Amino acid sequence: MDLFRKKPVFPFSEDGASSSGGNLKRTLGAFDLTTLGVGAIIGTGIFVLTGVAAAEHAGPGLVLSFVLAAIACVLSALCYSEFASSIPVSGSAYAYSYVAFGELLAWILGWDLILEYGVAGAAVASGWSAYFTGLLDGFGLHLPMVLTGAYNASKGTFVDLPAIIIILLITALLTRGMKETARFNGVMVVVKLAVVFLFLIVGAFYVKPSNWTPFLPFGMSGVVNGAATVFFAYIGFDALATAAEEVKRPQRDLPIGIISSLAICTVLYIAVSLVLTGIVPYTLLNVSDPVAFALRFVDQNLLAGLISVGAIAGMTTVLLVMLFGMTRLLFAISRDGLLPNLLSSVNSKTQTPIASTWITGILIALLTGFVPLDKLANLTSIGTLFAFGVVSLGVIAMRKTSPNIRRGFRVPWVPLIPLLSAAACLYLMINLQLFTWIGFIIWMVVGLFVYFLYGYRRSKLNK
Ligand code: ALA
Repeated sequence: MDLFRKKPVFPFSEDGASSSGGNLKRTLGAFDLTTLGVGAIIGTGIFVLTGVAAAEHAGPGLVLSFVLAAIACVLSALCYSEFASSIPVSGSAYAYSYVAFGELLAWILGWDLILEYGVAGAAVASGWSAYFTGLLDGFGLHLPMVLTGAYNASKGTFVDLPAIIIILLITALLTRGMKETARFNGVMVVVKLAVVFLFLIVGAFYVKPSNWTPFLPFGMSGVVNGAATVFFAYIGFDALATAAEEVKRPQRDLPIGIISSLAICTVLYIAVSLVLTGIVPYTLLNVSDPVAFALRFVDQNLLAGLISVGAIAGMTTVLLVMLFGMTRLLFAISRDGLLPNLLSSVNSKTQTPIASTWITGILIALLTGFVPLDKLANLTSIGTLFAFGVVSLGVIAMRKTSPNIRRGFRVPWVPLIPLLSAAACLYLMINLQLFTWIGFIIWMVVGLFVYFLYGYRRSKLNK
């Protein structure tokens, strides 16, 4: 039994096209990728999680939590960039591991990323629904309670209808083609950036430096716990790598897209966390819409309403990229034979994988519609951190096993940077709750069953 059979590094031509198929349509450039990246990154993390992270974990030291999480992400982003520029195929970390470590680890990572994108999609959709029903309430339109949340007997909710509808709408958009998707994403990204800037500019006038003391009410350990929580806010740049086969010049554009979208978001997050904790005493921030709350706190109610609109736009693009990432991942895994063939069929007209798109959309809609996710959202973070760690170590492995392949981007100071990156990811993983670990381990064990019962025998490498 060969569990470590590897895929060869395909020869790539100058435009990054591989000989492995390449039947998706190449439409994306560096600018599209940067907007897709910002689209994927800014969402629930900044608009929802910052409140709890400040009130319960870090206090005004929240800004340090953001810096710490950013360091882990930047290190990983460098490693992703090297892979994306040397193996520009759909499937991101899954595809990289297939070349670097062989099939078993590739499958484990693929299964892990299904968890990341699936749970992130479902969790962000329920955040979207909360903001959306709040906005409707503001206009005096009240949805029946049973339709506003996943099953919860004590709250009287049964199904989260707005969440299901937004997932299905985005699925339909994704099937129309990548260029249309990127255009829609671009508009939404402009809206959300405008709202973030609005908050920073107006909010800056209401900052009271006295709110920043004590700066570390929960000490450094609170900062680290806060970092593990707000890590979620940075997730998304990695999904860009799944688009590799739809990028015109992936070896140049993917590293640009990954690194610049992460850099933009890091700067914004640091500024937002400073202004937020400067306006409102951190003890009051334990709310589900902290950014809008801060503006209501200083009687800027109209602007607070605008923030809600921006948050909805923001979460819409996060959903878009998460769903996109999952469809491309299923496409890549299925193309290798580890999942049924249907998932890698491409529609000849739109050149998008329609079956995997609808299957993804329907599964996530069911998950978000009926399963209460409050406790599960952290599964996204643990899954992502695991993938980041493996990709980082993969850079070291690939430098040893394939020193001569063309790399459009090279991580500096190998092996130091990849090792630091893996260590930072492990450190943040350790700071997540036991409950999250248990869920993660169960998911992985299920994945191993799927592999040994199906994938191992069906793998194309078996032939
Ligand atoms: N980074 C994304 C968000 O915060 C997942 O919503």
